[in-house]
This record gives sequence, structure tokens and C-alpha cells, in this order.
Amino acid sequence: MPTRTTSGIGAGSRPLAPVDSAAGRGAFHGFVATLTSMTAEDDAHEVYEAWAPTYEADLVGGYGYTAHRIAAEGMAGACPERAAEILDIGCGTGLVAVELAARGFSTIDGLDASARMIAEARAKRIYRDLRGGDVRDPAAVEPGRYDAAIAVGVFGGGHVGPEDLECFARPVRAGGVIVLFANGIPWVEDDYPLHLHRLEENGVWTVERTTEVNYMDRIERPGWLVVARRAGAPDHG
Ligand SMILES: C[S@@+](CC[C@H](N)C(=O)[O-])C[C@H]1O[C@@H](n2cnc3c(N)ncnc32)[C@H](O)[C@@H]1O
Repeated sequence: MPTRTTSGIGAGSRPLAPVDSAAGRGAFHGFVATLTSMTAEDDAHEVYEAWAPTYEADLVGGYGYTAHRIAAEGMAGACPERAAEILDIGCGTGLVAVELAARGFSTIDGLDASARMIAEARAKRIYRDLRGGDVRDPAAVEPGRYDAAIAVGVFGGGHVGPEDLECFARPVRAGGVIVLFANGIPWVEDDYPLHLHRLEENGVWTVERTTEVNYMDRIERPGWLVVARRAGAPDHG
């Protein structure tokens, strides 16, 4: 599927067409169907606790999930320093870290709300540090501690809403990179471009690009890659 790239998030970022057929909510079964039907009032925590042991087989094996690879590629393009300290927010079983490590990144920490997902990630022996916590909790991460943050699949019903997007910038130092990957349904329904733009106006970050890309090889499933840079003057120490 061709990608659609915009520079920044202003007028060039147009919404997707209404989602139906295989790209819509009806295309899934099992845990994926449960998650896809969740609303802002739901909490996906128990789903991930139950799903952790079979998450990768279901998502990668079953649907050809590639969001982790797309986002890691986005990070590799935006962050040339391979020793950069990166926080993987909503790290799950560690798929993102595998892809970051394959591109030469060596210092990756992970944060996730699910202890059982973290246990799967720990078994990969890639992360420097793994910790349980909710990214919306200000105590979960020290502000400005990281050179970069990446968050894949953490947005939408049962997860984090657009009103909490600033949480993904908070751990990153001025001038650092923030890479997000969001499913196309909440992207449109919750108007992520509007929220990204508001944070840009509020001096949180500069959005360098938003790119629409299909993230499941076996079905049509559009999502959006966001590459942003933390606002403020970089600290050269
Ligand atoms: C769809 S999985 C994505 C995992 C991984 N990033 C990937 O691409 O395979 C979403 C993950 O986000 C975590 N998560 C959801 N809401 C969270 C929050 N508020 N704080 C921290 N982690 C959260 C879940 O526990 C789950 O492991």
C-alpha cells in the first residue's frame, strides 16, 4: 500500500475515508477483536495480562503486524545517534526493541502497564531497564531523561487517548525525537492531527511528519506514523 506523507500536521494532513470492510473493526477475532471494540471508558489492562503469551503469534503470525518495524525505521531516520537513550512506551512483549536493536540502537528502556507483557519483553534480553507503570502517571518517568521516545499501538479505546499525548513528550529532552504509531480509526475519530497541532502550538514539540501506512501484511489496516521533535533549546551540557 502506498504511503501518504505530510510535512508537519497542518493543512496537508487530510483525514482517512470512513473505515469499512477488512480495515474496519469487524476484521478481527479473539483478543484483537476485544481490543478493537473498546471505547474510552474501557481499560485494556486485563486483556494484555491474558494475551501476553500468545500476543506475537496472534498479531505477527496471524495478521502480519508490522507497526513495530515501521516505527523503528522512523526512529532510525530521525535519530542518527545509535547510542541514544530511548524509552519504549507501551513496550509490550518487546517487538519494538527487537527492531530498534536490529538498526543499531543499543540503549533501550521499556515502560508498560502490564506485568505479563513486561515479562515477555524481559525474556528478549534487549532492554537495559524495564518497569511497570502508566505513562499518564507523572511519577512513571523522570521528565527530560531520554534522548528519544517511541510508542507503538498505545492509542485508542482502552489505551491512551489524544488528551494525554503530552505524556509521550515529557520523558524526552529538548531537541530529542518522539516517534508514535497510531491505528487509523482513533486517528480519525478522535482527531489526532488536531491534538498534535495543539501541542505544537503549546510549545511541546514540532511535528516533522505524519505518514499514513498499512501496518498489517495480511489485511488492509491503515495507521499513522508520527515523527516529532521535543521543543526547546537542546542542552549541550
Ligand atoms: C498493542 S500493545 C503494543 C505493544 C508494542 N508496542 C508493540 O508494538 O508490539 C499496547 C501495549 O501498551 C500498553 N499500554 C496501554 N496503555 C498503557 C499506559 N497507559 N501506560 C503504559 N502502557 C500502556 C499495554 O499494556 C500493551 O502492552
